[in-house]
Amino acid sequence: MSGRIPEDFIRSLLDRADIVEYIGAQLKLNKKGKDYWACCPFHQEKTPSFSVSSQRQAYHCFGCKAGGNVIGFIMARDNVGYVEAIETLAAHYGMDVPREGGERIRPDQGIYDILAEAAACFVTWLQDAKKGVDAREYLERRRLKKDTVEQFSLGYVPAGWDNLLTKLGTDEARRELLHKAGLARRRDSDNGLYDMFRGRLMFPIRDARGRIIGFGGRTLRSDEPKYINSPQTPVFHKARELYGLFEARQASRRIESFVLVEGYTDVLALHQAGIKNGVATLGTAVGEAHFRSLFRYADEIACCFDGDTAGRAAAHAAMLQSIPALAANKRLKFAFLPEGEDPDSLVSSQGAEAFTKRLSTAGLFSEYFFEEMRTGLDLATLEDKARLRQLAEPEIERLPITPLKELMRTQLAELTGSAYTARAPAVKAQRYPPDDTHTAKRNRTIPLRQHMLSILIHYPAFFAGLEEASREALIAENGDSLSALGDYLSKNASADAATIYGFFLGTEHEQAIQQAASKQFDIASHLLANELAEGAQKLGRLQARERSRKALRSRLKGESEAR
Ligand code: UTP
Ligand code: MN
Repeated sequence: MSGRIPEDFIRSLLDRADIVEYIGAQLKLNKKGKDYWACCPFHQEKTPSFSVSSQRQAYHCFGCKAGGNVIGFIMARDNVGYVEAIETLAAHYGMDVPREGGERIRPDQGIYDILAEAAACFVTWLQDAKKGVDAREYLERRRLKKDTVEQFSLGYVPAGWDNLLTKLGTDEARRELLHKAGLARRRDSDNGLYDMFRGRLMFPIRDARGRIIGFGGRTLRSDEPKYINSPQTPVFHKARELYGLFEARQASRRIESFVLVEGYTDVLALHQAGIKNGVATLGTAVGEAHFRSLFRYADEIACCFDGDTAGRAAAHAAMLQSIPALAANKRLKFAFLPEGEDPDSLVSSQGAEAFTKRLSTAGLFSEYFFEEMRTGLDLATLEDKARLRQLAEPEIERLPITPLKELMRTQLAELTGSAYTARAPAVKAQRYPPDDTHTAKRNRTIPLRQHMLSILIHYPAFFAGLEEASREALIAENGDSLSALGDYLSKNASADAATIYGFFLGTEHEQAIQQAASKQFDIASHLLANELAEGAQKLGRLQARERSRKALRSRLKGESEAR
């Protein structure tokens, strides 16, 4: 999504969000004095040095020096940018992120409305004494109970080219809307419209907030294709949305883990058997965005695949997709079902326990990762050790910086009996010469200021997380782009990159801001937060030195004039 997030939205979101409550939902916080304490999620430690302040609405780790407000916390935890962090936080509080201006048109509320109307039609047709009789028989054969059918709002559309168009397409605008919503298709021959779904059992797909965004439609017979899904529309994004997510969230306020399965009917069968945390992709392979969506609501995902060759290949692909989404404290597991079974058939034939038992044998990401990487390799040979390193190292480097990444690096080094090579450049890339000598010159600080500018553009929320003295030091240098940005952020704490960019457009700082924004970082945001904090402290020290030098000079001057 592009388009600026309105400032007052961010302000009201931050007003509503409570950092203690938000972090407390995932870390066990102990109150000591005014603040709350826990072991830091960003580095490994045994005694808590991670503090959360209700008063300042900020967190700070005295160990690794990570710190910031709740948005900064999400950015560091999920390894995402400012905008995504806002979306995550907003989702947590059930708020929808509005966008303003730009060429992007916000999805038309009309699309949501017509999708809801369509779903209601499908429900009516399923219950219709005559029209729905085949479909109801089919549901019975599949042993789907009334409760489940109702809860997931299953419906039916009778065979025919224009059932829905006739019912809902009462004027030209509404027919257009049906087309936009993916419910009607255009004929090539005469540009006329016809129903997308015909003679199918209808599974409405909801977003995390419960709004219907599309449908899956199953044939009642054995003809092809078995399922038809809504096409991509302004409100339907297959790469991100998941079937059953809303219902899982309805079933439990705090979800411990999700069970990711392949089919709509698997979600239904699991739900009916009391396993209410099942979700499925929408006829597409599992991708990084799916994992990110799910990790917003739970720390663990158990992925469930067929035991056959196709299932194993899908699991391998899913494992690779998940890597960038594996933020600190997130766990991913892989379970395989007996060949020829899916969760639905397993639960129907052997009961829910058989399924949960399978799940309990699931391997963790780290185990599965190394298993897959070393398949077919003989680690007694140097050649295959080298091969393993070639395969695994670049993948491990794609993990966000977490204790797990650290341990996986160690594991790879042990397996290959060699030192880890990718690590040094990745972490050292952004280091600066220590500021210790009295010969530190002004111009040596120029790249540092540029670097800080880049960090702040990418993560404007970090500014609020700095100590007061550091914020002052950052602003102190009049006329410089970094201080101009600092000054702006001190007055507009919740500005996002787009807003900042707009503000400096056409000013003397435009170019510097643009350059800084185009820089890409390959290290985790909490390390960048550290670098910003260190940089600001360094500026403070340099300024103090400059001040005392000036004071000395003017005193000397005064003395010589007095003579
Ligand atoms: P399956 O073929 O495993 O079907 O496809 P299923 O979910 O077990 O359905 P039943 O039990 O036969 O009714 C798994 C998922 O792949 C997508 C659907 O999302 C389906 O739920 N799919 C499958 C399609 O999108 N199109 C198809 O033609 C088939
Ligand atoms: Mn099935």
